[in-house]
Amino acid sequence: MKKTTQLYEGKAKKVFLTSDSDLVIQEFKDDATAFNNKKKGSIAEKGVVNNAISCKLFTLLESNGVRTHLVEKLSDREMLCRYLDIIKVEVVVRNIAAGSLVKRYGFAEGTLLETPIVELYLKDDDLDDPLMNDSHAVALGVATYEEIAVLKSRAEAINLVLRKFFADRKLKLVDFKLEFGRNKGEILLGDEISPDTCRLWDLDTNEKLDKDRFRFDLGGVEDAYSEVQRRVLELD
Ligand code: TMP
Repeated sequence: MKKTTQLYEGKAKKVFLTSDSDLVIQEFKDDATAFNNKKKGSIAEKGVVNNAISCKLFTLLESNGVRTHLVEKLSDREMLCRYLDIIKVEVVVRNIAAGSLVKRYGFAEGTLLETPIVELYLKDDDLDDPLMNDSHAVALGVATYEEIAVLKSRAEAINLVLRKFFADRKLKLVDFKLEFGRNKGEILLGDEISPDTCRLWDLDTNEKLDKDRFRFDLGGVEDAYSEVQRRVLELD
């Protein structure tokens, strides 16, 4: 399958059309941004690492009954995907308090959440992806109540699969962000799951092994991404 025209360029990926109208190619870049583009940089080989991790995790989810857009890994940086009409909702699942949850509600970082928190954000860079609830999403016309219910239950099911998978690899899945889209009347998981979109802490030391190293200039960014790749791909 070959790329034709570029459909879209995002902060971390490009998406290309192909000769099959149901298929697109996601190309993973090394560009890194944080705080909605206010911080910009690049992480060497991030595109290769995130494509490999995402393909592995999407395959894991498919084998656990979660439908995703993944068709196959095409090359180091390319993922062949089903075309999605992207739902403009970012679904965040949190198992441990960190990031904006700490800022917004005053949790101590590292607090274990007895019940995972599921949050919805409007996918709109111009508005800085504001937090919203179901009725905002419906009023804005980005999804129906039925679709929001599907997104939330799908996100919870994904959390159970990923939390166990990462724990087996000595990683705590602190929180993560998911995106979904419509394809032929079905809702599929889209985008990527990688250290860009998850917080992952070492189970024993709580060392941060994700994009927070880039966001907060903690150093060792490439090493953290490679370590996650090693644990996800080599420890089978
Ligand atoms: P937050 O604590 O900054 O709200 O982030 C929650 C999770 O979502 C974290 O794992 C990082 C991920 N995330 C994205 O993937 N994209 C985003 O634009 C933001 C804000 C967070």
